[in-house]
Amino acid sequence: MKRKILFFVLFGLLTSTQVLSQTKNHDNRYHLGLNAEEKVVFLREMRQMLVSIQQIMLGIGIGDKTMVIKAAHYSGNRMARATPQTIKDKTPVSFEKIGGPTHMMFEELAINAAEADEGDADDMKDLAELTGRLMQNCLACHEAFTVN
Ligand code: HEC
Repeated sequence: MKRKILFFVLFGLLTSTQVLSQTKNHDNRYHLGLNAEEKVVFLREMRQMLVSIQQIMLGIGIGDKTMVIKAAHYSGNRMARATPQTIKDKTPVSFEKIGGPTHMMFEELAINAAEADEGDADDMKDLAELTGRLMQNCLACHEAFTVN
């Protein structure tokens, strides 16, 4: 009798944790459905964007605006143009509404950095703020889409 109760308790625990983990692991993001090749290109662009952010932050920190400009240009219009058409065909308007402005904000950052005085703490602070705002787009898109 005791063993039977133990069995039911264990069984109940197992199924409830399974249900819980299923809801926790459920991926609500929109699936872009990229193929293996497209994923390689797309994720490489993403890692480049992370490199840009790292270089931009370092450039701001050490007061080197040339570093900021160069890094921002890598992920600006140039990257937007380089994205293969097959990937563009798979991305919905809601994706482009975040992606397009992101590249444009990198260009804006490059322009602002060019105009900034690298010895002026306020100018550098403004660049850091713009970078933080730009990164809200990274977060918004990652929240909503997956390459799979
Ligand atoms: C318009 C959409 C979009 C924007 C904007 C965006 N990403 Fe992504 N990023 C994605 C998607 C989709 C993935 C794949 C996530 C997945 O499938 O789980 C990804 C993956 C990544 C990865 C992982 C790369 C790998 O090799 O696995 C990095 C790093 C990354 N993004 C950095 C960034 C940074 C930094 C920014 C902002 C400067 C950014 N992304 C902006 C859509 C976006």
